[in-house]
Amino acid sequence: FHVDMDASATDKGPYPYYMLKEINEQPNIMRKLSQEYLDVDGKPTVDPKIISAMKKADRLYIVGAGTSYHAGLIGKALFEKLVHIPTEVHISSEFAYSDALLSQRPFFIFLSQSGETADSRVVLNNINKDYDSLTITNVENSTLSREATYTMLLNAGPEISVASTKAYTAQIALEAILAKALGEAVGQTTAQNFDVKRELSLAANGMQAVIDDKDRIDQISKKYFVHANRAFYIGRGEDYYVSLENALKLKEISYIQAEGFASGELKHGTIALIEKGTPVFALITQKKTAALTRSNLEETESRGSKGLTVVRKALAQPGDDFIIPDMSELLTPLVSVIPAQLLAYYTTLNKGYNVDRPRNLAKSVTVE
Ligand code: AGP
Repeated sequence: FHVDMDASATDKGPYPYYMLKEINEQPNIMRKLSQEYLDVDGKPTVDPKIISAMKKADRLYIVGAGTSYHAGLIGKALFEKLVHIPTEVHISSEFAYSDALLSQRPFFIFLSQSGETADSRVVLNNINKDYDSLTITNVENSTLSREATYTMLLNAGPEISVASTKAYTAQIALEAILAKALGEAVGQTTAQNFDVKRELSLAANGMQAVIDDKDRIDQISKKYFVHANRAFYIGRGEDYYVSLENALKLKEISYIQAEGFASGELKHGTIALIEKGTPVFALITQKKTAALTRSNLEETESRGSKGLTVVRKALAQPGDDFIIPDMSELLTPLVSVIPAQLLAYYTTLNKGYNVDRPRNLAKSVTVE
């Protein structure tokens, strides 16, 4: 599974922008992570020192900024559902100054593509003398990697485009592998029954199917997003967490005011913002809340919104826009984020903006 790892990794190859190249690399990165962190039987080969350190914890604290924070939200669902360990997720810049009440035996996980985010480094400096920590990063020997107790590398190849794509999905995949390893180590049957190797393979194929559908996404962009002055992504649970990431993608490169929203919250005020033609993109991959989110979307449509849906196959209805494969509801984020990555890409392109270098943004924010 070839992912550009040699010097050519920093050229765009056949792609017009790094972002499109990095979106396209995601299926093979899933397969590569599977190869690197799972044995032939699908059992995790995570460093036993990390697992034994995490086993001592009574609570996990996941810390990150921006897209990495969004990956941490999925990590919370994975650790709590596969390991049954209480897990908190915090925005680095908030947690750094929060005088947090920590549990007796905390373990910290730092998510950072660059490994250099200042907000996250402040937290690591605050906790380093007292507690163990693991940095999950795409950059070997980065500051957050060197200063944490342990490191796991995404090995996703350099991520050049300011908008993070492959690092987000790689972080989630690695959190899933780590949760399976820890869950098995503490004898959780939910983890033992979780076939992460199969799920990553389903995710890779599901990602590829969306990527192959990119021309239709370009059409949707032209029809509903290029002229929109605001847009909403809505969902519940993991679908809400992905909606936050989906909105960030659109905001940071196309400059459309997009919001990721807990769909149940819309009626508590925000629905007042819905106008004729406002795009509302609902993620519906969680069986328990599918009907509720659908009715929330219908409420916006009755106020004139343009409703769109990304739906897991078993929950699909006629007219749904994107159908993603039936796979663990814990890992549908790996696929349900792809339509929004491409929608942000094409909307930015269609608006004539620079996809890889959005205004006012840097790839790594090394100042507080
Ligand atoms: C995501 O598209 C942005 N580029 C930004 O939010 C980024 O995720 C954030 O700055 C965190 O960077 P890190 O993962 O390198 O720590």
